[in-house]
Formats: sequence, structure tokens, C-alpha cells
Amino acid sequence: MLRVLELYCGIGGFAQASGTRARVVAAIDQSELALSVYRLNYPETPVICRNIETISTKFLRSFTPDMWWLSPPCQPYTVRGKRRDIDDPRAASLLNLIRILPEAPPLHLGMENVEGYATSRARELLLKALSISGFRVHERLICPTELGIPSRRPRYYLIASQGDLPDVEPPRPFSYPLKHFLESDPGPGLQIPRDVVDRFGKGMNTIDVTDPDAYTTCFTSSYGKALMRSGSYLYWREGVRYFSPDEIIRLLGFPRGFKWPPTMTLRKRWHLAGNSISVFALREVLRIIPHFRN
Ligand SMILES: C[S@@+](CC[C@H](N)C(=O)[O-])C[C@H]1O[C@@H](n2cnc3c(N)ncnc32)[C@H](O)[C@@H]1O
Repeated sequence: MLRVLELYCGIGGFAQASGTRARVVAAIDQSELALSVYRLNYPETPVICRNIETISTKFLRSFTPDMWWLSPPCQPYTVRGKRRDIDDPRAASLLNLIRILPEAPPLHLGMENVEGYATSRARELLLKALSISGFRVHERLICPTELGIPSRRPRYYLIASQGDLPDVEPPRPFSYPLKHFLESDPGPGLQIPRDVVDRFGKGMNTIDVTDPDAYTTCFTSSYGKALMRSGSYLYWREGVRYFSPDEIIRLLGFPRGFKWPPTMTLRKRWHLAGNSISVFALREVLRIIPHFRN
């Protein structure tokens, strides 16, 4: 079984995508909130609340991982985050991992980030460290809509390996309409007040579930806080409503039955869901490592 360190684990997108093909030997994140969700859904996995900026080579080596999976913060590479790249303090933890990499290289390494990362200095530094350590590298931009999922989330993915990365068959797309991911009773607190819709409705991306071609825009961690450019809304019973956190994570590929701590507020659930990863896209990307193929 492949031993994987899930770094910046959030609510566990990698654990979900890899299923029984990998054993997550430790899931590390600095957010207790994210880890409370992780623990509930993957009770067998050791979770560690740590700032990755401060971890050492010795600490990483102690897990004897075959693979590192990284989902570092995206703000240094977004327009909203001012694209400060490696000068942004939020890139420091990735720089620490890049420093450690040649001292303790795993067999495989994978990472995900926003499209802006593809032209960053951080990427150049990681590629250099991978090259020094003898890795082969495969990079890819992919959006779940290419796989037939009605939800946009274009992202950069990198898979690096000290073994072969043979070509893979193109994916067989799914074709699920939006309706497939929605709940008949999505729970309370989702309706948007009429006066808010009247005022801001024109700038909101509101979609109709009966439209077979409807797809959502990218949900971000600001969903529920900022109305514009943070995700889509639904025409619903004469009004407009938010997507529920369960609907959002289902569009990402998490299963029905994924659990939230019962007392966790809607806002916090939206935040964690908007920070997560498309499990559909990640499964597709991982196929390049022979171990993850069917
Ligand atoms: C883009 S999200 C990754 C989400 C994850 N892939 C998932 O499936 O939910 C980035 C995560 O990195 C964590 N994080 C950010 N900076 C960190 C640091 N310096 N050390 C540890 N975790 C950090 C955040 O708490 C957040 O959960």
C-alpha cells in the first residue's frame, strides 16, 4: 500500500480520491476547523495540527512516506491575493517543503493549485528541486467540466515521480446534469432575501436546475460571505437560494453521507467546501501513476 502524507489536507480531498489505493500515514493542516471534519470522516488516519512552515526534514522523514500530496494556499497566485507569489508570507510553507525535498525525496509527489500558479516563481523553484532530485514531471490544467461534471473549477495539477509516468488513455467523461447533485430538501438558511436579490441579482450567477446544460461557476471559500464571484445560486421556489455545503462537496465528488460536525455553522461549512478540491479531477490526474490505475 502506498504511504502518503496529505499536506494541507483540508477536509480530505486526497483521501477521498485515493480511496483504498493509498494509506494516508498523516494528514497535516494548521486549521483545527478543517481537521475536525477530516477526523470525523477518516477516523483511522492520524491528523496533525501544524504550521508546515515550521516542519523539519526529520519530522517528514519519520513518516517514511512514498508520496507527498500538497494543496498549498492559492492566495499568492490569485488576482484577489495580489499575486505576490513567493513574496507572499502564505507561500512560506511551500518554500519550506521545496527546501526539504532534495534532502528527503519521496517516490512520488503531487500538487494542486489555481491556474495562476502555472506561471509563478514558486513553480519554477519546485521544478528545480524536483529536477535536482531526479523526478519526471507531468503538469496539467484540468476543469471538472471536461469530465462531464456541471461545475467549473479549473486548476493546475502536477504529478512528479522517480518512476515511470506512462501515457494514459483519455478519460471517459461522465454526463451528469446538475439535478443529480442537488437535494430535494436542502435544509434551512439557504433562501436569499428578496430585497438582496432585487439589489444584487444582476451580478449574481443564478442558474436554473431545469436547464440540462446548466453548470456552476467555481465555489470559493468566500461563498456565503461575498455575493459576487464566489459561486453560483439557484432559482428555487419563486426565489433564489444558495447551494448547500453538501451540494457543493457533491459537485466536487465527495459522497452522500460525508459528515460535518453537527454544531458547525453553514458559513464554516461553505468556507471549507470552497477551499477543497475536485475529487473527480484529482482521480483523473492520479491515473498517470500506475499504482492508481484500475
Ligand atoms: C486549498 S486548501 C486545501 C484543501 C484540501 N485539498 C481539501 O481537500 O480540503 C489549503 C489548506 O491549507 C491549510 N494551510 C494553509 N497554510 C498552511 C500552513 N502554513 N501550514 C499548514 N496548513 C496550512 C489551510 O488551512 C487549508 O486547509
